[in-house]
Amino acid sequence: MADPRLPHDHLLDEQVAYYRARAPEYDEWWERRGRFDRGPELNAVWSAEVAELEAAIDAMGPFGDTLELACGTGIWTRRLRSLAGTLTAVDASEEMIGINRARLRDDSVAYVAADLFAWTPPRRFDTVFFSFWLSHVPPERFAPFWDLVGRALVPGGRAVFIDNQWIESATSLGGRLGDRDSTSVERQLNDGRWYRIVKVFYDPDDLARRLGGLGWRAHVTGTPQYFIYGEASPG
Ligand SMILES: C[S@@+](CC[C@H](N)C(=O)[O-])C[C@H]1O[C@@H](n2cnc3c(N)ncnc32)[C@H](O)[C@@H]1O
Repeated sequence: MADPRLPHDHLLDEQVAYYRARAPEYDEWWERRGRFDRGPELNAVWSAEVAELEAAIDAMGPFGDTLELACGTGIWTRRLRSLAGTLTAVDASEEMIGINRARLRDDSVAYVAADLFAWTPPRRFDTVFFSFWLSHVPPERFAPFWDLVGRALVPGGRAVFIDNQWIESATSLGGRLGDRDSTSVERQLNDGRWYRIVKVFYDPDDLARRLGGLGWRAHVTGTPQYFIYGEASPG
């Protein structure tokens, strides 16, 4: 019988294992600490772009009933709380969910531990939000992923998303960025262990075009160096 596995499927378990192990040190990336500390000048550029990104996402609110996919440690879950009516947050890693829960201490947030490639939304939401997740979706699962997002949205709902631009100074010192057109990358933890995970970088215009090809109306833009962000609604 033919192997039903798709080309990047062998990386998906390793990707979950990587994030489970990385959970306690994950925020060092966002807060430019430890191996991610690139010095005052670059850190200041990063902080300015984070502020720009936060303001842009705030301006897209309110979000109503919100589903956050791959919520991680809660960097954005915390922010979504003030933008969302209700908030449901999904992640494959119990370790990530544990840190998220401890950070927010908010019983009104519904957490779900699930593999997004084997999960069906139980109901529909006004907004589906995902940050730094789309780049971890294998290219051959791009269309099925957006199909899942569409099935999670009420009529008139929208997806709101954030991701990385391809830039060396966003990585850890001694880390690997990978080629611009590669679909996977090697990542190292503080203890020296290496993992290979899916990583696909999107250019804002190209992403908007691809979404248009799937029948979505999308607007995607970026901060000067580090981030892309956008919104999309089923056409
Ligand atoms: C780059 S982190 C993004 C976390 C968070 N959204 C943020 O902005 O900080 C990717 C997240 O995807 C989760 N993840 C990886 N594979 C997954 C899968 N198959 N299903 C659900 N979540 C997954 C990881 O546990 C991790 O929390």
